[in-house]
Amino acid sequence: MNSIIVVGSGVAGMTAALDAVEAGLQVTVISKADLAESNTRYAQGGVAVVIDAMVDPGAPRLGDSVESHVTDTLTAGAGLSDPDTVQVLCAEGPGAIDELIARGVAFDRHDGQLSHGLEAAHSYQRILHAGGDATGAAIAYALIDRLHESSAKVLERTTVVDLVVEDGNCVGVRLLDGSKVGADAVVLATGGAGQLFPYSTNPEVATADGIAMGLRAGAVASDLEFYQFHPTSLSAPGNFLVSEAVRGEGAHLIDAEGRRFMLDLHPDAELAPRDVVARAIAQTMKSQNGAPVRLDATHLGAEFLATRFPNIDAACRAQGFDWGVEPVPVTPAAHYYMGGLRTDEWGRTSVRGLYAVGEVACNGLQGANRLASNSLLEGAVYGARVIEGLLDPAPAQPFGDDWIEPSVALDLADPVDGREVNRSDLQQLMWDAAGLARTEVDLQQAAAELATWRAGAVSDAKSAEDANLLIVARAVVASALARRESRGGHFRTDHPDTDPAQARHSAVHHSGVMARA
Ligand code: FAD
Ligand code: SIN
Repeated sequence: MNSIIVVGSGVAGMTAALDAVEAGLQVTVISKADLAESNTRYAQGGVAVVIDAMVDPGAPRLGDSVESHVTDTLTAGAGLSDPDTVQVLCAEGPGAIDELIARGVAFDRHDGQLSHGLEAAHSYQRILHAGGDATGAAIAYALIDRLHESSAKVLERTTVVDLVVEDGNCVGVRLLDGSKVGADAVVLATGGAGQLFPYSTNPEVATADGIAMGLRAGAVASDLEFYQFHPTSLSAPGNFLVSEAVRGEGAHLIDAEGRRFMLDLHPDAELAPRDVVARAIAQTMKSQNGAPVRLDATHLGAEFLATRFPNIDAACRAQGFDWGVEPVPVTPAAHYYMGGLRTDEWGRTSVRGLYAVGEVACNGLQGANRLASNSLLEGAVYGARVIEGLLDPAPAQPFGDDWIEPSVALDLADPVDGREVNRSDLQQLMWDAAGLARTEVDLQQAAAELATWRAGAVSDAKSAEDANLLIVARAVVASALARRESRGGHFRTDHPDTDPAQARHSAVHHSGVMARA
């Protein structure tokens, strides 16, 4: 193993790239926009980690433990998180965050001690943050600085359109201009898929490219029915995220009458699991003719809000809201993809030479629902592990047979006489049929509609993205149809209960190729 390509420059990709350089590999990082443009860059609330286990001299002792972080993560995962991958995340997390600090990430401190906050479904105040509510930007810019200092070759504003697979091995990538870049292995770190929906906290680069490229190359994807909708984005164009940390600091959700509706619905009220709060908001909005609910943070005081959450403060003001004196309108928005390319705990996909890490991957860690602030940690921990894994001369086939079944075989061929896909139509269809609440009838109709659409010729980055969104939309709908129960981020109004017999991962593969190389 001499050379690798890393596709994507979020926390997962840059961690992998920096570790690979340190391991002596020739590294090429390819990213389709500016290096900083990623979900990572916009992360607000922070990073969950067992601070007690960090070596940083400013780490306070809170009585937290790896076992507690594991338990909270497994609970959020609603029966689908794999205990081994969760254990790795929580046990290796403290070292990974010490490494981020060593690489220049300046987490917020008070008198030298690391500041730490609370988010929903965490048993301890284990959320580190930076720049108040700019944790992702602090991580992104520090890692970009290190990347520029390293020997890695960086191709910015360069879109990867496909993987090159020869004799069952992934040996490189194909770029938009048709040229190929070769390497001994490819690490996909292409992030999420928020652009499947019209309302999303994600930036425009989150177009599910890695999942679609992986499926085309013959890799298995998993748990594609599980999408996390964040309860509180500003009800204004752009759906700017209003971090859960704001509710962690004590902000309340109120309906049109000013009533704290979450008090009646869950013992943890506003800090109930994300899917519970998001659906409660959607239900309340429906009962008040679509009017958004409001987040009341006024009792926290304008000065505190501006200091603790400077970016949200600025975003509110830019939309004409003064959240220090009035509650602000909020609405759920697509936020995080639990599903992705199936990997083992070393980031290995089912195609030799192809690795996936971060939000694009599904290593079983996030299960049916991700615990808040666990994904930056996932990128840092698994971004390092993927390099350890690819340097390890372990067997090429990482998987046993058990997790492949039941598997949805997806035909990726478009109808020749189909209607060319339009992104806005696709997003609205997905919101209506595969959003916060799903039914057999809506999903069947969506599947039928999607089957009549075709991708246009790939002539620019947008058309390549649209083709990818179409493939993944079909895969989401097929997976959501196949799971006749409700669990975590997948809610079926016609099957509202969780069925213990369905506590297993789903899998999707392209029917036109071998599911496993
Ligand atoms: P990303 O950071 O999304 O990076 C993906 C990269 O791949 C980008 O550089 C992109 O340009 C590139 N790319 C994609 N396709 C291609 C292609 N075809 N060719 C070339 N390059 C490509 N998580 C937390 O843990 N804590 C938080 O507080 C938090 N807050 C969040 C707030 C917001 C608004 C959002 C959107 C997410 C938040 N998350 C948070 C989730 C978290 O930010 C992401 O899950 C995580 O950063 C994903 O990292 P990644 O490296 O896997 O992908
Ligand atoms: C937030 O700040 O609410 C987002 C945290 C996350 O998605 O993990």
